[in-house]
Amino acid sequence: MDCPLYEKIANQIEHQVHEGIFLPGAKIPSVRKSSKQMEVSVATVLQAYSLLEDRGVIKARPQKGYFVQEHQLQPSERIKIEPTKNDGTIHALLRRLLHASQDENIIQFGAAIPKSQFLPIRQLQRSVGRLMRLEPEICAAYEFTPGSLSLRRQIAIRMLDSGCQLQPDDITITLGCQNALMLSLQAVAKAGDTIAIESPAYHGVLQAIEVLNLKAIEIPCSAEHGIDLDLLEKAATEWDIKACIVTPNNQNPIGATLSHPSRQRIIGQSVEHDFTLIEDDVYGELSYKDKRERALKADDKHNTVIYCSSFSKSIAPGFRIGWVVGGRFQPQIEHYAYVQSLAIPTLTQTAIANFLENGAYDRHLRKTRLAYQDNLARCQALIQEHFPAGTETSSPKGGFLLWVTLPDHVNAMTLHAQALENDIGLLPGLAFSLTAQFSHHFRLNYALTWDNKTDAALKALGKLCQP
Ligand SMILES: Cc1ncc(COP(=O)(O)O)c(C=O)c1O
Repeated sequence: MDCPLYEKIANQIEHQVHEGIFLPGAKIPSVRKSSKQMEVSVATVLQAYSLLEDRGVIKARPQKGYFVQEHQLQPSERIKIEPTKNDGTIHALLRRLLHASQDENIIQFGAAIPKSQFLPIRQLQRSVGRLMRLEPEICAAYEFTPGSLSLRRQIAIRMLDSGCQLQPDDITITLGCQNALMLSLQAVAKAGDTIAIESPAYHGVLQAIEVLNLKAIEIPCSAEHGIDLDLLEKAATEWDIKACIVTPNNQNPIGATLSHPSRQRIIGQSVEHDFTLIEDDVYGELSYKDKRERALKADDKHNTVIYCSSFSKSIAPGFRIGWVVGGRFQPQIEHYAYVQSLAIPTLTQTAIANFLENGAYDRHLRKTRLAYQDNLARCQALIQEHFPAGTETSSPKGGFLLWVTLPDHVNAMTLHAQALENDIGLLPGLAFSLTAQFSHHFRLNYALTWDNKTDAALKALGKLCQP
């Protein structure tokens, strides 16, 4: 039997919500507008909206209209195994963002890429020039996995600062940290396995999980405390978790840094519940303190930690040089790395090894960390002054990413679209979860040349957020 008209209308709107036409938190057309658009009576639309409210698809807000439900559950309810969703939302968003990040006319608050003034470009230019002049044969040879010995030696020396005592043979060079994370996941899990991740999480982790057909459990993460370890405990007790990907230092996007007791606890949990910790330390060297935090790997007595990092955030994202310390998974990781790419570019590995060897890196880091702190203070002050009441920001203690929480009336996807029209890039919160969360949040990169134009862009964003 044919269903009544109001039910057909409700089904149609519900379908549009599932298709992502109306995003979580977005306002749907008013009753009067829908009645006109669909050429049905106001009473029929009201009946349809009321059915959608019963189904939990939309919610009425007095005086304001109807909005798509946000699925903001209480923290204790928020851990759930979500089968991998591959609806393309994140890919489409990131494609647009990456495209925008190549456009010099756009203010790049979106991508997590430092402006070149924060990278030692001139030193690298000299080093690459010298190598090409004196050792042109460098281009004619493969540097097979695990990669350049001189670079691995330099990394082992640097990692002493993070408390890790390593031999060059413990280290495999990768194509950036993304490649290190991907290889680690491939080594510890197979399709269908479950991985615990931070929520919000770095979008590259979400994409890796999608591509490898893994399941994710999103564990809520706060800017103050990082990943919620009570909920991780609950998840590990209830489900067979193969690995947990965690960023203990300056987490992307919310900037959290784990306390010392939390570090001990999460390592203990990985031993007790027999899962691997995949440590993403790509922002570890950018802590604002004089001395960087210890790596989880430094206290890995039971060999449950895989450590991943790269030089993309501090030396040269375009060189694509990262590394992984795989512990007991090292043989599988090296095997996958070899099969996937055979070798890593010799020129960029050697240039970075030379840069690390000549001792200029620490000076460079000290300078950039100070500049990031200045930019952060400026950003926070501008947001406080120009964004609507109720806007909140994180307080990162390192790195260059700020997490902005907007009042309920501002949808970050709408803001993203409006901002792009004004040549301003940002990354909406939706890109940081597989479960359509964070629709009132966005991430802001402050590793930019800060001038009047940047000030004006942030003020313009604030204006777009006003009711
Ligand atoms: C937390 C985190 N991990 C890994 C990566 C990937 O780093 P890479 O560019 O070295 O592949 C990024 C890049 O934004 C990141 O933010």
